[in-house]
Amino acid sequence: MQVVNIGVLGLGTVGSGVVRLLKDHEHKISSITGRKLVVKTVVVHNLEKKRDIDLTGIKMTDDINELINDNEINIVVEVMGTVATAKKYIELLLRAGKHIITANKDLIATYGSELAELADQNKCDLFYEASVAGGIPILRTIVNSFAADRIIEVKGIVNGTTNYILTKMSQNNMSFTEALKSAQELGFAEPDPTNDIEGIDAAYKMIILTQFAFGINVALDDIEVKGINGIDLEDIKQAKGLGYNIKLLGIAKLVNDRISVAVGPVLVPETQPLSAVQNENNAVLVTGAAVGETMFYGPGAGELPTANSVLSDIIAVTKDIVLETTGNRFNDFSREGKQALPDEVKYPYYISLKVRDRPGQMLKITEVMTELNASFHLIIQSEYDDVNARVVMTTHEMSEQQIKEIIEGIDNLEEIEVIASYRILSE
Ligand code: HSE
Repeated sequence: MQVVNIGVLGLGTVGSGVVRLLKDHEHKISSITGRKLVVKTVVVHNLEKKRDIDLTGIKMTDDINELINDNEINIVVEVMGTVATAKKYIELLLRAGKHIITANKDLIATYGSELAELADQNKCDLFYEASVAGGIPILRTIVNSFAADRIIEVKGIVNGTTNYILTKMSQNNMSFTEALKSAQELGFAEPDPTNDIEGIDAAYKMIILTQFAFGINVALDDIEVKGINGIDLEDIKQAKGLGYNIKLLGIAKLVNDRISVAVGPVLVPETQPLSAVQNENNAVLVTGAAVGETMFYGPGAGELPTANSVLSDIIAVTKDIVLETTGNRFNDFSREGKQALPDEVKYPYYISLKVRDRPGQMLKITEVMTELNASFHLIIQSEYDDVNARVVMTTHEMSEQQIKEIIEGIDNLEEIEVIASYRILSE
């Protein structure tokens, strides 16, 4: 049987999973592709580090040139992370004619188009199924199974760390800090969890999903990103009392044929399927004009789930090599798209306030709301501390523009402080 040689760049959690799965599922993969897939060379930063996998027959090196200059290597899997160095290496590898598979969402969200162009020029494949929602095969599903449908909305839980933190806060009454520590101990959070908890990791994934679902390129600056940093346990409890779970959602949708993409904490009704997604799991809900609502659920991170997505890319490249059809884009759908205007994206909102508890305060809040033509749905007051009350309101639908002005207006009031304002998802 002919051999397809693979190089691996980085041997952390995902890299180890790739080596392990390729060995464990060797026979099935060969019978599907008609080729023997062999990891020939692995490039690592630290050659001295002890590895917990069988590396027999694999050449270990810290020199990227061992991949670039080896004519026997057909495919390189980049799982080293970082943006600048990974980009430089991938460019050199594409120019050397290597097909690339990467799990690097930061890189693809930022430089995906540029790298796809370079891959085209060199007749190489560039696939990145593992970059969004780890083990959920969502990108190839959108490319293949939604090719004939018109996608209207893609929303979901695309960051496992924050979903784990929110689950623990909600179910175990943990504080944000305790829940983050637990996520780090279990290894879900990135080594530096800033991108996870500030919503940036989810925003990168939404950039890629938006490109696949709508064919539209958006940049990080085009997205309204709110994280869960410092989210208040009391708001999680209040939301629960109203029949909602707070989830960090990415939402990309067409509004009057313009694109709106946002990431932030959202009150999800307990009866909505995304509400039931717990711990580090992810779920992506794709709504098509023809098919209606579909949901894809599974592990968003972890060694073997993410490695399985990488392997699906390896198999796709191998089939292309066999059929001599390499050099086609992962996603061919592309069109011009304008950003939705702030007054056309509408949601009901949850607002929580710290209010000095004395007469006349509610009147001041009502005046701001009335001036901006916004309407309350519900108001609850409870104790914040000895001198302050917590006032929680839900509103009728209002535009992004209105909520922005309301929050500014309320924040300017004396003795009243905005703690949180979150979108509410309808049933
Ligand atoms: N840190 C990511 C998450 C996993 O928590 O979902 C990799 O994308």
